[in-house]
Amino acid sequence: MTDTAPRERQLITLDVNGERHELLIEPRRTLVDALRHDLLLTGTHVGCEHGICGACTVLVDGSPARACLMFAAQAEGARIRTVESLADGAELSDLQRAFSEHHGLQCGFCTPGFLMLAEGFLAERPEAAKEEIREVVAANLCRCTGYQTIVEAIDDCAARRRKET
Ligand code: FES
Ligand code: FES
Repeated sequence: MTDTAPRERQLITLDVNGERHELLIEPRRTLVDALRHDLLLTGTHVGCEHGICGACTVLVDGSPARACLMFAAQAEGARIRTVESLADGAELSDLQRAFSEHHGLQCGFCTPGFLMLAEGFLAERPEAAKEEIREVVAANLCRCTGYQTIVEAIDDCAARRRKET
């Protein structure tokens, strides 16, 4: 039997990368789908849709969160940041530059998740030791890397930020 019933929609407001957006969406729409398909912010990727791989990591009120595990409606009232917020126009952020310098940029699929995980983590733990960084990046999956260059990049970025403050 085909389901032809009109789907219930709700109007929500999302604050993404400093801009407010009104969206008319189904209550079951996930945050990652709202970001990618409604706001066309396609830097955030979808891998497993089960909270395992971390490709969909964004910042919600400054903390890394799996956007596939949240409904968009749950993010109302929160400040959301996606990977698109890191660069200032053509100017890469210090974290992006560190990833590039240390060859920590993997495929475009997993990298945004690693970047946002690192951005949120360093904001909370600017003094983090390398071992802590290693433990944190293990939360995101990449089948192709030994993670070493990513750890080096985050550690270097943290060290440079500490020097500047
Ligand atoms: S797509 Fe969200 S954790 Fe994999
Ligand atoms: S999954 Fe992106 S480089 Fe391995």
